[in-house]
Amino acid sequence: MAIKFGRPIESRTRLTPVETGAPADAERLDLPTRMRRNRRSEWTRRMVRENTLTVDDLIWPLFIMDGQNSSAPVASMPGVERLTIDQAVREAERAAKLTIPCIALFPYTDPNLRDDTGSEALNADNLVCRAIRAIKKEIPEIGLLCDVALDPFTSHGHDGLLHEGKILNDETVAVLVKQALVQAQAGCDIIAPSDMMDGRVGAIRAALDEAGLVDTGLMAYSAKYASAFYGPFREAVDSAPQFGDRHSYQMAYANRREALREARLDAEEGADIVMVKPALSYLDIIADVRAALDRPVAAYNVSGEYAMVKAAVERGWADGRAVTLEILTSIARAGADLIITYHAREAARWLSE
Ligand code: PBG
Repeated sequence: MAIKFGRPIESRTRLTPVETGAPADAERLDLPTRMRRNRRSEWTRRMVRENTLTVDDLIWPLFIMDGQNSSAPVASMPGVERLTIDQAVREAERAAKLTIPCIALFPYTDPNLRDDTGSEALNADNLVCRAIRAIKKEIPEIGLLCDVALDPFTSHGHDGLLHEGKILNDETVAVLVKQALVQAQAGCDIIAPSDMMDGRVGAIRAALDEAGLVDTGLMAYSAKYASAFYGPFREAVDSAPQFGDRHSYQMAYANRREALREARLDAEEGADIVMVKPALSYLDIIADVRAALDRPVAAYNVSGEYAMVKAAVERGWADGRAVTLEILTSIARAGADLIITYHAREAARWLSE
């Protein structure tokens, strides 16, 4: 059987059909391009690798709770625990040894401290602020990032102030500004507004500057989608909305162009870093934002994405290390400069082996 540009098998010099086990009448294809040359050995693959994930790209979220020397597992997030501040300090120390550059702190607020307006968020001595001070004192070299949003503090679980079933925008921004100041004054390095109220980035930047906190950074949750992938996080901090949903402030997952408007607005308002969240079902958004803006882009590999991997691994359906590194590299390949991920600690270990 003749193949168009083929040469007869007799012309092969190195491999004979006997050696390769190829059928005797197989012909060599006369291909102008052979993509497999660059893949043929480990050293060529290393040389042509386009993206390399490093520990420098990773931010590790930690859940904190009140109490002393204890931890509580988060059932839907195997390997993740809520930690008391003393334990969080120890984990931060380990993370620093693994050279993880930054930790994101999320409080599990005592239900007794939650109210309609999330007033505990403004307490300069609340759980987050105490954790910031404790970690900064012991491990000053690790970066700290904190969410600005009211959901861990409100009895209704929404990110903002409620009036007659609606989340108020400007009134909420005024509270978020105070929350940001309290956290920045406690020593938080990067303030991350995750509430999706309009105008909050500019308002927070102005207030930080006015207070002399010019070095405090802003990472805006810019394209934050109303996603079903946040379930395990809401279990971890017990912040599921008591009624309704977050569709009036978080983005609709069918929308792509809108993410660019959000990211551009936040950049104009002074965000140092813009974020896309979640990550895995939103790689197109990460790529768009990367291409359109000249700021660092972060992606949040969220709790539901983590839970899916861990569930498959527990059942023996996936190789945890292999799928995790593939997922994280794909997020970097899409254009994320930073990845917030619950896998950060294990990934840091794997990357250093
Ligand atoms: C708070 C906040 C949420 C997450 C980060 N900050 C939950 C939400 O908006 O419902 C989710 C993170 C995750 O799922 O890992 N606004």
